[in-house]
Amino acid sequence: MIAEVDKDTCIGCGACPEFCPEVFKMEDDGLATAYTNPVPSEVEDAAKEAEEGCPVDAITVK
Ligand code: F3S
Repeated sequence: MIAEVDKDTCIGCGACPEFCPEVFKMEDDGLATAYTNPVPSEVEDAAKEAEEGCPVDAITVK
């Protein structure tokens, strides 16, 4: 699985690192990035929760 954050869509709400800090983190620009790819199998469910939990659908995990 590969996780991506569309920075043009992210509003910096900060939810995704709460769901899955192993894959998502906030950067100095105030927006999220997916810094662990491919997504480790043991956190795939958490990464999908982050995808579903993003309020602006900026995350793709597939
Ligand atoms: Fe941005 Fe969505 Fe994460 S708005 S900070 S990608 S939950």
